[in-house]
Amino acid sequence: MEQQLQLRDELGYGYDSRDANILEVMDYVIFNAEHGCAERAEKGLQLLLSNTMEHARAENTAMLSTYYPERTRHELDHVVICKTIAALCWRWSRSQHNLNDLYELREVVLHHIGTHDKNFERYLMGRMSAPASHCATVRRQLSSSLRPEEFRLRGGNCCGPTEAALTY
Ligand SMILES: [Fe+2]
Repeated sequence: MEQQLQLRDELGYGYDSRDANILEVMDYVIFNAEHGCAERAEKGLQLLLSNTMEHARAENTAMLSTYYPERTRHELDHVVICKTIAALCWRWSRSQHNLNDLYELREVVLHHIGTHDKNFERYLMGRMSAPASHCATVRRQLSSSLRPEEFRLRGGNCCGPTEAALTY
């Protein structure tokens, strides 16, 4: 569990909080639009675009660094969603308000989270539980803090020699 949290920090992703943040802003926009607060809805859309782009950037980086096989498809969906939100920002700034656009956008975002984001999350969880990943983490942690003798005494050789051990 500790390793998972560490990897999570290293990759800079946090699906639950970012997804929740995006949906929270999305609902804020819809609420204001439904209650005739067009100006607030418009500002909310701009915030939604900013949050979504930040989320997409972080995920794109994580997918690249972990060699995620479905990266291209997932990235393309990010582009489609960001362009859709940008188009809505443009329309709302010109008083072309349409509630149905917002409902459709919410469905699109939910679909993305339920498919692309969930699949990537599963892929990362699988990588973190794999022995090779475990060994790499253990090696990295140990090579910087232990001398080879200490490493062997603690049973660290189950993953093979550390980088530090190879240099001695
Ligand atoms: Fe995504």
